[in-house]
Amino acid sequence: MQLPALQSVTVEILVDNFFDVFEPSRPGIVERVVPGRLKQPLLAAHGLAYLITLHRNGQSSRILMDAANSPLPLFNNLKALEHQVDEIDAVVLSHGHPDHYGGLVSFLGQRTAGLPVYIHQESFHPKLLITPRGRIGPWTLPRQDLLNAGALLHENSGPELVLNQALLTGTVEASTPYETPLPGPKRIIEGKEEHDHFSDEQALVMNVEGRGLVVVGGCSHPGIVNMVTYAQKITGVRQVAAIIGGFHLTAGGDDLIRNTIAGLKEINPELIVAGHCTGFRALTKLAAAFPDNFMVSCVGTRVMIVGG
Ligand SMILES: [Fe+2]
Ligand SMILES: [Fe+2]
Repeated sequence: MQLPALQSVTVEILVDNFFDVFEPSRPGIVERVVPGRLKQPLLAAHGLAYLITLHRNGQSSRILMDAANSPLPLFNNLKALEHQVDEIDAVVLSHGHPDHYGGLVSFLGQRTAGLPVYIHQESFHPKLLITPRGRIGPWTLPRQDLLNAGALLHENSGPELVLNQALLTGTVEASTPYETPLPGPKRIIEGKEEHDHFSDEQALVMNVEGRGLVVVGGCSHPGIVNMVTYAQKITGVRQVAAIIGGFHLTAGGDDLIRNTIAGLKEINPELIVAGHCTGFRALTKLAAAFPDNFMVSCVGTRVMIVGG
């Protein structure tokens, strides 16, 4: 699928699990906030929300990818970073877990007009987790509440263009032998509980002139290497400028972390920014494996990929 080349893409981390004032910036590509200069403090939370700004032909458009785990960090951080709910042109959801859609109905309710909302059709199945601390969930993405709040729903299963500028991958094709589903996540189909293979999870992909792909994932349950490899396949673009997301690695153990690092080295992106569900252990190993191009995703960070 032909993806238009953009002049630049900025991904601002609105909500994520981390804030660390000592994480460095990288001039021209990764810019951290200075907490003392903010009008109000940022909140970190177990959830994810990105504000993605696309520049093309001198015009900009804005996508909200995921809506945090609840309205509290989403609205707090939008305000702290001086954004308005009405400046967003479309919403995309990475997958049907509540730490990614918990603030979505409230967000839509605060808008003065309806908004296109792109969601994989399989995200609406109830989901739950079997963890060492017991069963958690089920949760169901509330379709009717979204519609009542003004969502203009675009449901997809395969690749889908967003605002004619970015690409949602649809269900990710698996290509690595090591990114296999973990036993804990389940979903409920027609009353029956089954293993969740995350057919609903998708990456958002942009193509920046002369720089290549920017691939943004949510939890990356299908595997971040699978997701980037699939993005390369469906766009026909090999070069990768940045991979951003939660990578959900620590829960998969050290073999998964080691193999994923090897897979990312083969992809050879300019920049990797990971946070959310990656897990501390995996973050430390990524930082050691990519000393020059790995950065932790902190709330308020702006990642800027400028074409050239
Ligand atoms: Fe998540
Ligand atoms: Fe998830």
